This record gives sequence, C-alpha cells and structure tokens, in this order.
Amino acid sequence: MNKALSTTAAAVALTAAATACGSGGGQGGQGGGDDTIVLGFSQVGAESGWRTANTESIKAAADEAGIELKFSDAQQQQENQIQAIRSFIQQDVDVIAFSPVVESGWDTVLAEARTAGIPVVLTDRAVETGQEDVYETFLGSDFVEEGRNAGRYVVEEFADSDEDVNIVELQGTTGSAPAIDRKEGFAEIIGEDDKFEIIASQDGDFTRAGGQEVMQAFLGSHDDIDVLYAHNDDMALGAIESIEAAGLKPGEDIKIVSVDGIKAAFQAMAEGKINQVVECNPLIGPQLMDLVEKVHAGEEVPERVEVEEGVFGQDQAEEELPNRQY
Ligand code: AHR
Repeated sequence: MNKALSTTAAAVALTAAATACGSGGGQGGQGGGDDTIVLGFSQVGAESGWRTANTESIKAAADEAGIELKFSDAQQQQENQIQAIRSFIQQDVDVIAFSPVVESGWDTVLAEARTAGIPVVLTDRAVETGQEDVYETFLGSDFVEEGRNAGRYVVEEFADSDEDVNIVELQGTTGSAPAIDRKEGFAEIIGEDDKFEIIASQDGDFTRAGGQEVMQAFLGSHDDIDVLYAHNDDMALGAIESIEAAGLKPGEDIKIVSVDGIKAAFQAMAEGKINQVVECNPLIGPQLMDLVEKVHAGEEVPERVEVEEGVFGQDQAEEELPNRQY
C-alpha cells in the first residue's frame, strides 16, 4: 500500500543527500554532513502510565540507535500534533513518526509530508484516510483483539449465570483508534449472549481522573453494576477509588477488566481489586527505530507490524508483578 511512497521518498532522500552533502539525512537538511538520521516524533501526551512508558521506550531506543530525536508532546490535542508535524516538515527531518490522538482528520498534513518527500511511520494508533500511500507502515497493537480478550473474560466469568449481567464501560478518548476498536472487539464477544448488557458507556479520556469521575457518575445512576470494562488501566484505577468511596469492593461486588498491564494495575490485581488485565505493550521503541532505519534506507517494510501481548488473571498477578517493565 505504501510502497510507492517508500520508493519515492527514498529516491528523493538519496538524491538530495547526495547533492547536498554526500550522506544520509532526508533532503539533506538535517544530516549536517554525517549519517545521523533525524526523526521527528509527535507523541499523544502523557495521559497514562502506558504513555509514559511508551515515551521512555522511544527516547531510549533512539539514543541507543544513534538516531537524533525531535520529540513533541501534543497534550492530547490534534491541532498540536498537526502543528508539530508541519514544523518537522519545515525542519526537513528525515522521517516523521507519530501516534495519532484521533483516527480522522490527517489527510491534509499527511499529503504535505508526502509532497515534501518525508516518509511517515504511524506508531501505536492508526489513522483513517481516503488517501493511498501517505504513510509507510504502522507499528502497534491489535486493539480489536484486546477488546475481544476483555469480552472473553466477561463471558467466561459469568458462564454459569442465568441472570442478566450489567456492564459499564469506560471508554478511551472519543475518536481514538483504541477507544473505537476496543469497544468494537468487546461488543462482538459479549453480543453472542443477550444476558450481557452495556448499561452505560462514557469517555474517561484514558486518564485516572476521568475514570474516577465517570465511575462516580455511573454509580450515582446505577445500583446494579456487575462489571466494569475500562479501556485502560489508569481509568480502572480511578474507578476503583470511586467504587471504594461508594462502600463497594472492587473485584468482588463489581468485576473489573482493563487494558494495558501497567505495574499499578498488576498491584491492584494482586490485591484482588482488578480481575483481568489485557496487555497492550508500549515498549515499541526498538522496533520503531528499526523501521525508521529501514524506511530511511528505502527498504521494503511490512504494511503493518503488530506487537505481541498477553492476558493476565488474578492468579498470575503476584508472580508477574516483579517482571513488569512498565
Ligand atoms: O493507544 C494506546 C492507549 O493510549 C493506551 O491503552 C492508553 O493507556 C493510552 O493512553
């Protein structure tokens, strides 16, 4: 799908480098006479433990690979990301990578990068675009499968029950790929049995404060919640505070399944407060740098590179806790 761009971008980069300074460095602007690759990376923000680990992984891997990283934090605002990408284009970086805060609205800026001959790598979150060949590759998780895995836990947990199961859902940022896909995957699995019903579903913006606030509202309007499905651990941890404040026992009175696998969630799981964690691996810095180097060199890259992840229950929490790297 993005091979045409790959070839074009590589050709532009190589020609420009050859004319400008006889070395790598995109269109010659940032290479500065050496072979250092300059990568412009626009991060979503610092909204969650997952995101912090992802940022650290990217910074450390760039350092390790000898790639010059221009890092920009968008504070969860799409306009900030668009501005950052435009600034990377102006600075004539060799490769642009970004984790898009939401799925849509990228066509114009992606076309600008293509016109400038700068290859783009998507990490973590995908974009929805009507255009062909606007990015080289996507590196990240299968969010739909993560949602399915959360759904499978609920179906198994209540397999022997004939009663209705009332579920509340804490969604990630509206319009973001993980919120859309995790909702879809979960709905697909629980939809197989009509005893499962999502009685409330709201955006908690992937933050602990959002999870706490929305769960408090859920508890105010529903006294029959059986399950909380949180699209990430931070929201689940915030929700736990509200559940406890309401005099209920998280993990017992309300079963909780969440996504990410941060240390704090494993700790909560070891304490019996979360029942199941679906892993989403943020430690993708080394894979990203590998792809950046390949794209810069004009090598073929797969259209999609997926990250391996697991699913963990309470019985594994204690043992797994010391192994968690994020
Ligand atoms: O895109 C990955 C998601 O974004 C993580 O699940 C969440 O914690 C983060 O904010």
